[in-house]
Amino acid sequence: MLEVSDIHTFYGSSHVLHGVSLRVAAGQVITVLGRNGMGKTTLIRSIVGFTPPRRGTVSFRGAPIHGLRPFAIARLGIGLVPQGRRIFPSLSVQENLRVAARPGRWDLDGVYALFPRLHERAANRGHQLSGGEQQMLAIARALMTNPDLLLLDEPSEGLAPLLVAEVARALGQLRAQGMAILLVEQNLPMAVGLADHAYVLSKGRVVYDGSPAALWADEARKAELLGV
Ligand SMILES: Nc1ncnc2c1ncn2[C@@H]1O[C@H](COP(=O)(O)OP(=O)(O)O)[C@@H](O)[C@H]1O
Ligand SMILES: [Mg+2]
Repeated sequence: MLEVSDIHTFYGSSHVLHGVSLRVAAGQVITVLGRNGMGKTTLIRSIVGFTPPRRGTVSFRGAPIHGLRPFAIARLGIGLVPQGRRIFPSLSVQENLRVAARPGRWDLDGVYALFPRLHERAANRGHQLSGGEQQMLAIARALMTNPDLLLLDEPSEGLAPLLVAEVARALGQLRAQGMAILLVEQNLPMAVGLADHAYVLSKGRVVYDGSPAALWADEARKAELLGV
């Protein structure tokens, strides 16, 4: 479904991604792990067109997308849950969801069924929500665009364990429904519990490409690559 091939991405003259390749097949959950500053968000930005790669290719359903503008990439069916959530603070929960809506199987009823808490908070404004509720809203908003591929950038960041479990439950439900997911995380247990395949980024390069369970079991590798 998604194929990233040997991309090099820069901020000005700063060379951040050095030949990153990865793939996400239909119905798969892929996780990208790595410590702070290793290039995870830059990888997401490269895929969605915010910071296009200078070299290499990104293909979605077999067609190149690395030259397209962000709105065009989103329209092809790639939904983004950005790091830091970025919901609209002055809009209500329901308005945040409505502005994102595009036709498809996901609608207000569907996302409220996935996150009953959002239904209870439908009339509250974004800035009135807790961090966990904002994260649920960010995920629900991405679903309202009816994507075929969902990209999530550290959805567990800053959340208490109970809320991390709630987000993981929702992602597990999406996975069971066949949604393709690229999950950037620093929470290794959460990522290992969900993912079919793991990549680890270090200084803009892929340094692990394999089974999440094997990485989980390898204490020395975990310490070396993730500092855990
Ligand atoms: N807008 C930017 N301009 C310049 N450098 C940036 C910018 N965003 C990130 N970087 C640098 O790129 C590297 C990778 O950052 P990032 O992709 O955000 O890492 P991660 O998401 O893994 O924490 C870091 O060295 C960071 O300082
Ligand atoms: Mg990041």
